[in-house]
Amino acid sequence: MRFHVLTLFPEAFEGPVRHSMLGRAIQRGLLSVQIIDIRSYTHDIHGTADDYQFGGGHGMVLKPEPIFDAVSDTLSPYPTRDRHAFPVVLLSPQGRKLDQQLVLELATAPGLVLICGHYAGVDERVRTHLATHDISIGDYVLTGGELAAMVIIDAVSRFTPGVVGAADNVQEDSITSGLLQHPLYTRPSDFHGMTVPDVLLSGHHAQIDRWRREESLRRTLENRPDLLDSADLSLTDRAFLAGLGYVGISSLLDDGFESQE
Ligand SMILES: C[S@@+](CC[C@H](N)C(=O)[O-])C[C@H]1O[C@@H](n2cnc3c(N)ncnc32)[C@H](O)[C@@H]1O
Repeated sequence: MRFHVLTLFPEAFEGPVRHSMLGRAIQRGLLSVQIIDIRSYTHDIHGTADDYQFGGGHGMVLKPEPIFDAVSDTLSPYPTRDRHAFPVVLLSPQGRKLDQQLVLELATAPGLVLICGHYAGVDERVRTHLATHDISIGDYVLTGGELAAMVIIDAVSRFTPGVVGAADNVQEDSITSGLLQHPLYTRPSDFHGMTVPDVLLSGHHAQIDRWRREESLRRTLENRPDLLDSADLSLTDRAFLAGLGYVGISSLLDDGFESQE
């Protein structure tokens, strides 16, 4: 997976792409992250990448020319067919909200171009005539697109083969599995009187699996009941949820399970 990031602040990426899982994946050649300074595609001695808004208004707007040139230059080494398969993503609070479904869609591409806006935003022609995707990482406004780009790089990388080791199976993660994950514990088993549930110390794998599944269902019901609508639930799962008094989804009432009331 190749990430190409257009930004006015290349130094913002120095830490994140060097450390942890991402840094190791880059060293092993599983990922590449190219940081492109938008200013290097400006044509005046001041490196002017932004300008006043037509029509007046607060805040500067990123100019279209350096961004169009930078994207064209970035994709030019790729064969035409690959170029068309490259999502060109404009980070924007106005875009489609990022979720696991979108992460999985992006992860199937050979790479991504990520355009980080700043100040008041980016000239609209970038969105209408250059970007293939307009993505928001949530309903709040960031100062710039850099953190949003890092979120996308991190989330998409987890689905690049080899980046996450088998020991940390992404399919067991919250959301990816369709539910929230069960609680996790490590040593010590007793920390200032805060103890680990006995079942986890029992060595009884079937009971541990059942406890984890039930805690996962309980936690999902408490924190994200919306996920249960599309989760892959067995009859035992449904019976367990019904026992918790949950009658919120129609599928729960199928297969003979009645409301608790
Ligand atoms: C201060 S914001 C501009 C917001 C713009 N005035 C608007 O109302 O849509 C500057 C830049 O930060 C990035 N940004 C801000 N919030 C974001 C979000 N929730 N998701 C993705 N990018 C975001 C975008 O690249 C945006 O161009």
